[in-house]
Amino acid sequence: MTRRGFFEKLIAALFGASGLAFFAPALAYLYPNKNFFSGTREFVDLNGRTITAEELTEGASRVGLIQGSPAIVFRRNNELLAFSAVCTHFGCTVAYEPADEVFVCPCHGGEYDIEGNVIEGPPPKPLTKLKVQIESGKILLS
Ligand code: FES
Repeated sequence: MTRRGFFEKLIAALFGASGLAFFAPALAYLYPNKNFFSGTREFVDLNGRTITAEELTEGASRVGLIQGSPAIVFRRNNELLAFSAVCTHFGCTVAYEPADEVFVCPCHGGEYDIEGNVIEGPPPKPLTKLKVQIESGKILLS
């Protein structure tokens, strides 16, 4: 390798690294959601208010948070079901559409069925199903 070739590659590598450093915060801003909770946590609304089991009547659904991570809880056949609302593609927050019983990601058109399985689009994995417990009317997810 010539001296000139070496410096051209070095400069290209430095620009590439600085480009990554520049775009990483922008990507983190665009795709901020991550599953980062662990253990059993209370399901709350976006203002931190407790969401109770009786608020979710048959067919109703709520988007809320578990320790800052978005989740969706809904009642179907008189059973409460819960999924992480974090899309497995790039982490956008999915929405539940009860009429079609699908979860839809607004970012790249990913769709999941009622069991969280991918039925369309780029998501590589199913949505994370969460375990639901009711304690003194509060919804606890793990
Ligand atoms: Fe959900 Fe891309 S982030 S489909």
